[in-house]
Amino acid sequence: MKQTVLFICTANAARSQMAEGYLRAKYGKRFDVFSAGTKQARVSSRAIAVMQEIGIDISHHRSKVLDEFKGKPIDIAVTLCDNAHAVCPVVPSAKKTIHKGFFDPHLTPGTDEEILAGYRRVRDEIVAWIDEYFGGIKKMNEKESQDIREMVRKGYATVAEGGCGCCGPSSCCTGADTAEQISGKIGYSSEEMDAVPDGANLGLGCGNPLAHSAIHEGDTVLDLGSGAGFDCFLASRKVGNTGRVIGVDMTPEMLARARQNANKAGITNVEFRLGEIESLPVADCAVDLIISNCVINLSPDKARVFSEAFRVLKPGGTLMISDIVLERDLPVAVLSSVAAYVGCLAGAVRKGVYLDLIRGAGFSEVAVLEESTYPIELMVNDPTAQAVLANLSIPKEELYQIGDSVRSVKVRAVKTK
Ligand SMILES: C[S@@+](CC[C@H](N)C(=O)[O-])C[C@H]1O[C@@H](n2cnc3c(N)ncnc32)[C@H](O)[C@@H]1O
Repeated sequence: MKQTVLFICTANAARSQMAEGYLRAKYGKRFDVFSAGTKQARVSSRAIAVMQEIGIDISHHRSKVLDEFKGKPIDIAVTLCDNAHAVCPVVPSAKKTIHKGFFDPHLTPGTDEEILAGYRRVRDEIVAWIDEYFGGIKKMNEKESQDIREMVRKGYATVAEGGCGCCGPSSCCTGADTAEQISGKIGYSSEEMDAVPDGANLGLGCGNPLAHSAIHEGDTVLDLGSGAGFDCFLASRKVGNTGRVIGVDMTPEMLARARQNANKAGITNVEFRLGEIESLPVADCAVDLIISNCVINLSPDKARVFSEAFRVLKPGGTLMISDIVLERDLPVAVLSSVAAYVGCLAGAVRKGVYLDLIRGAGFSEVAVLEESTYPIELMVNDPTAQAVLANLSIPKEELYQIGDSVRSVKVRAVKTK
């Protein structure tokens, strides 16, 4: 069910109008959005102009006063004046009120062009805050993104070398299920597990992306975050000698393990490339099918991953992903945990956001083919999750709430043009 959001600012002329326009345009499927002020004024022509620049038309908006919303059920009221905490009204009918102040762009000194630049600055701040608060997308700078990738890389280097710190309860850790037991639970048949070289299946997936894939002899398949090569080797049997499989992974230790696995099994139609999935070492329009298993949730820039995937797919090509998404936001303590990130929790975003990011990259026919709660026993047994819990002292009930919110999904999307 949609939540109702009301943005409030003194004259409902610029900040609240921009916020209303952006939230409705970007997240209107999840929110009914309104705005109002404590007094009425004409909607600012500069606000209309800078919103037009990002493709959002608010020229038909009109300034409204709070009285129009008296008695209406509001889930979230957001006050946007720069000194919101001190002066903004509390809306008694709102279940939750957030005071989030932004500078009044009307007060920007200087020429017309400088004032317009002030409006753009405030627009961008409002957009970034809405994406973060309502969309669950935290825009990181390049340094923050690199730090996250480095931390993830270190975590998976340890896994590749036989240590712990993984998405699922890897066989490397005592007390946990074996890789085969996990893979059985997430959709691999024993025939598939027997068909790959020993050591290729580390039990790191959260689904079987090939299970629903239309994959043909002669196809070129790309695996994003190929790990020790499990899904690549399964795909290699299906594409045959006339096809090929490319696995991309950023962790050299994982790549070494995958190459070793290919060599010892004499598999020649699979190639492993070192690289980040945010900037793929693959040519434009070169691939028929992209698969990925429990990796994109780890990326600090998922939008870039999907846009890269779109770039390298041939027109008509398919994206088939198994991944972890959320139904609700995670507790802040988990979000800020390094161990939780490497363990595939803290980097996950809400399902709706994830699907919107895929659509935003240009994909069509975006569909969730399978969805299940990520089994709580896997999380409770998982050494990574245990480390997270020990460090964060999260109460058991909260863990069950987290478990309930974590979903394993299989998503299919097509590049039509
Ligand atoms: C959970 S494991 C999954 C491995 C494999 N897909 C499987 O199912 O066995 C995640 C893998 O993705 C790789 N990885 C994570 N983030 C990446 C990124 N941004 N670019 C490339 N590889 C990444 C890690 O090095 C690791 O090997």
